[in-house]
Amino acid sequence: MPGHTDAYDALAYPDLSYSCTHPSRLAALASAHGRPTGDPRTARVLEIGCATGANLLPMAYGLPEATFVGIDLSGAQIDVARRAATSLGLANVELHTLDLRHADALGTFDYVVAHGVHSWVPPDVAHALVTLLGRIVRPGGLAYVSVNTFPGWHPLLGVRDLMQFATRGIDDPAARAAAAREIVHFVAGAVPDPDHDIQAATLRSYLEGRATSALASEAWADSVLLHDELEEHNHPVLVGELIAEAAQHGLAYLAEAELADGVPRHLAPEVLAELERRASSRADFEQLVDFVVHRVFRKAVFVRSDEPVAARLRAEGLLDLHVTTLGAAGPDGEVLVPDGTVFRTGHAPTREAFAALMAAAPVPVAFRALAERLEEAPVVAGNLLRAHLHSSALVDLLRSPPSVSLESAPPLGFTPARCFGGRLVTNVLHRRVELEAADRAVLDAADGTRDVSAIAALTGLDESEVDDRLAALRYEGLLE
Ligand SMILES: C[S@@+](CC[C@H](N)C(=O)[O-])C[C@H]1O[C@@H](n2cnc3c(N)ncnc32)[C@H](O)[C@@H]1O
Repeated sequence: MPGHTDAYDALAYPDLSYSCTHPSRLAALASAHGRPTGDPRTARVLEIGCATGANLLPMAYGLPEATFVGIDLSGAQIDVARRAATSLGLANVELHTLDLRHADALGTFDYVVAHGVHSWVPPDVAHALVTLLGRIVRPGGLAYVSVNTFPGWHPLLGVRDLMQFATRGIDDPAARAAAAREIVHFVAGAVPDPDHDIQAATLRSYLEGRATSALASEAWADSVLLHDELEEHNHPVLVGELIAEAAQHGLAYLAEAELADGVPRHLAPEVLAELERRASSRADFEQLVDFVVHRVFRKAVFVRSDEPVAARLRAEGLLDLHVTTLGAAGPDGEVLVPDGTVFRTGHAPTREAFAALMAAAPVPVAFRALAERLEEAPVVAGNLLRAHLHSSALVDLLRSPPSVSLESAPPLGFTPARCFGGRLVTNVLHRRVELEAADRAVLDAADGTRDVSAIAALTGLDESEVDDRLAALRYEGLLE
């Protein structure tokens, strides 16, 4: 594959983590489907295409008894990941510069994660990835694979064509990114009546999506653009075909890793019923949904086909899980979530459950312990599961949260977040947090040796501001 790895060797993919790939969340997803999986605390986990380790290493840090293997074709990125693993003092991680086509020899795994790989490799490598998953997922194991999907990618491939046309012959990465952006802006405004032009609408919606992305103002933005839009390979799939191919390798589609991304609840119940009537298989149903919602991306989770899963989600599954929320109490008893979700309920025990979750946050609460204190615990479980289906920020479910203390003194910033630079960092619960520059400075200064006055001296902030920012970092799960 000449040229392919070179692209990642020359310009690494941004340091990004993906909360739903964490074994503890994948295990929770399986529990909600009535299916036991390996304990994440002692699991064997593989990440394929792990790049610089920004997803893998924070997980390995938080689950020290589990073992993690990361592979990537790009040696330069694996070198960065190895340096990070060494600086984090991780003894439970192996990193290999390895083509996934030769990864059988690594053995079998309880959890296999391949985020952003399948669509960005040549089709034969994508097929090899699915074959590999069929071979290396252990009984009781789970495989996560994200893909760009049709029909949503049809118009985006047009954006890509335009960018590729405008960047012919330009080698310098910054100049390529600038030329790609410039042509999109130009063409979006080129027609006299852009409000009634399908191409202008597509380009505008692309630009809006990029402008509102958390990565928009990062130095990474060029890297995202050059890899996601301009990478040599970009092959979206029909999800029905992916599910059918996985079935040939002994894997059954379980669900989207973020349940909230699954069946779109904004569709009328009669539309969903009609989709079910028209579908002769799960693959057909998922495909029909994608045609209706014009889906661009899937984060699909597979299990071994010979292991049964419950047809419907089971609220009893929560008994083995830990629950947390990113919500805060609103003025009239609502729960307000940063993603815009507003949750209200008239069910007093459910309100009580949310109050307990908000009081404990960011530390997750064992649902079993919560259930002992609450009336009508099965109803609360059902309500929490429904809330999770709406937004994983409203109710986040984990099998075994990372064992990290939040109370160190002098303050210690979450070490993986300090190890990887940038404004978007990963917290103890493997969620991304966006930091202001001053928070980033306090996080970096909080190395476990400095007290508040030393952090203030180093950052140039008042001690009271340092105190406030440390409290905010603690609430965001960014202190150990
Ligand atoms: C779009 S990047 C995604 C990186 C990371 N998983 C993420 O989503 O942030 C794709 C990654 O797959 C790696 N890759 C491409 N072909 C591969 C192969 N045949 N075997 C292993 N890794 C490969 C690339 O080097 C690159 O790091």
